[in-house]
Amino acid sequence: MIEFTVNNQPVALDVDPQMPLLWALRENLSLTGTKFGCGIAQCGACTIHLDGVAVRACVTPVASAAGRHVTTIEGLSQGDQLHPVQQAWIDYQVPQCGYCQSGQIMSATALLATEPQPTDEDIRSGMAGNICRCGMYSRIHKAIRSAADGGLALWEPDHGEQGELPTGVQRG
Ligand code: FES
Ligand code: FES
Repeated sequence: MIEFTVNNQPVALDVDPQMPLLWALRENLSLTGTKFGCGIAQCGACTIHLDGVAVRACVTPVASAAGRHVTTIEGLSQGDQLHPVQQAWIDYQVPQCGYCQSGQIMSATALLATEPQPTDEDIRSGMAGNICRCGMYSRIHKAIRSAADGGLALWEPDHGEQGELPTGVQRG
């Protein structure tokens, strides 16, 4: 039995420890927001957070999640409150086909968690491992820039309450 936490819910799975974590999320836990793309850590579609760090679920054995916290795209918002990156994705209408987008958002949120005020180069290098076949890189970049410059300041993930608005920022 492999026990870990997914989106703040404890889970226990009786599965092959070497099975990719992506299979456990999609097939055993029905969390299908995380996508399968290449299966070889090349595209970023399967990006999730393991203890807050972005990892590729397609090459991560489920056993390595034991005792740890997994966050998927389904667990990013808090109730009705979207993560600022999710809101920025809507504001900038980033998705086209959408297939890469949960992985893009999980990479972006992990990036901003470690670097809340990224330079443009930080954004480019932080997102370099996520491929978008629709080529939405410019909008992805602008949305991350926007979240870093405004919405992130409103995000208080510990208790979900809204903070003071920075000067010039209006609540949507
Ligand atoms: S499916 Fe995991 S990186 Fe492509
Ligand atoms: S939105 Fe289609 S692959 Fe990125």
